[in-house]
Amino acid sequence: MKFKSLRGMDDLFSIDLAKWQTLETAFKSVFLKFNAGEVRNPMLESTDLFARSVGSSSDIVNKELYTFNDRNDESISLRPEGTAGLVRSLIESKKDNDTGKYWYQGPMFRYERPQKGRLRQFHQVGVEYVGFEEGHAEFEIMSLVIALINSVKIKHYNIKINHLGNSKVKQKFTNALVEYMQQFEGELSDLELTRLGTNPLRILDSKDPKTLKILEKSPSYTDYLEPDHLSILNNLLDDFDESNITIDPKLVRGLDYYTGFIFEVTSKELGSQDSFIGGGRYDSLFSSLGGKDIPAIGFAIGLERMIDIMPESPKANKKVFIVNLTSNNSRYPYKIAQNLRSLDTNIVIEDPLLTSSAKSQLRRANKAGASAALIIGDDEVSKNEVIWKDLDDKIEQQSLSLDELINKFKKL
Ligand code: HAM
Repeated sequence: MKFKSLRGMDDLFSIDLAKWQTLETAFKSVFLKFNAGEVRNPMLESTDLFARSVGSSSDIVNKELYTFNDRNDESISLRPEGTAGLVRSLIESKKDNDTGKYWYQGPMFRYERPQKGRLRQFHQVGVEYVGFEEGHAEFEIMSLVIALINSVKIKHYNIKINHLGNSKVKQKFTNALVEYMQQFEGELSDLELTRLGTNPLRILDSKDPKTLKILEKSPSYTDYLEPDHLSILNNLLDDFDESNITIDPKLVRGLDYYTGFIFEVTSKELGSQDSFIGGGRYDSLFSSLGGKDIPAIGFAIGLERMIDIMPESPKANKKVFIVNLTSNNSRYPYKIAQNLRSLDTNIVIEDPLLTSSAKSQLRRANKAGASAALIIGDDEVSKNEVIWKDLDDKIEQQSLSLDELINKFKKL
């Protein structure tokens, strides 16, 4: 029997990972400049944690959690996102009485219908700023988002921002939306009718063309916001005079913990799953999970989506390929490889570790994109030499002593 990977869960091999590694290096240097510290939380948490944070009426908790009972009969779930676990860990370790800037990365799990840009195991890099009041951290969060996007050289993207107001505003707007949508009950799908009863704001996220048409004339969130909320949005528009930041009064997020400013970053190059960063403020999550009453704001980047629109990584390190033509599998070529690897360079030394003809080894060297081949036969062993064959310029090959080899190698 042959096994297959589970649907929506990808294997990533070295060739797929070049961009991932470029991104990880670039991000780490940005986080250093913003003084954000890394946190690694477990992938499994109590199911109740997600119900009480992401929300028991959200799609993520309702339909998409990987949940099971452990051997102790406790209901646990694979994390669908990183904020809930991080907040839990900060409360548990009593770090909720101070400000902090945290970042994390790792796999997240949602039982969604897989399609391009939508997986069941996907990866996020997330950031949470804890203890910073409304109006104080929004600028830095946005500037961090832009720094991360720039660090991986993505040029075309749009940032949509909105504000959910306070609980009074949210309630007033929700009532107005429900009243408006009730006129069209006959035209709504079963899912949307359910949402109208349980989580009406999610209707604004609908992808159904009929509903989108109805929503064109629905009440606008911005009409219900108070001046303080609007000024958060307008200040951001002023502070970042890039034309790709706009207020989207229909933007709502699929997680229940948001309380104020929210945003998403999208790219037209992504197709239907076009949002590659999402986040916002969640000022009551700490207290509702039993911690101190402290404000917080954060975001998460969907790495598969971001990597999809990242330009190719620069060419990998130079390679030198050793072609071993010695009889009796001499140790000399391996020792040469060991010597060269011990030099302070980033050059890749590939030795064939198998015996085959010169032609076939050189073919492998070319296929591997090597800049040079070091050909070593019995003659070279007896003279303590190697033959250098330049594969880039196709110039004549030359015999080199070991000192000459090291000099040439350092100049490569
Ligand atoms: P989210 O919008 O649910 O927010 O996810 C953030 C990003 O993860 C999305 O923009 C998307 O790029 C990626 N993503 C989500 N689901 C999938 C999937 N099935 N396949 C591939 N990529 C996916 C959060 O998770 C919040 N915790 C963000 C946050 C942090 N808010 C405050 N702090």
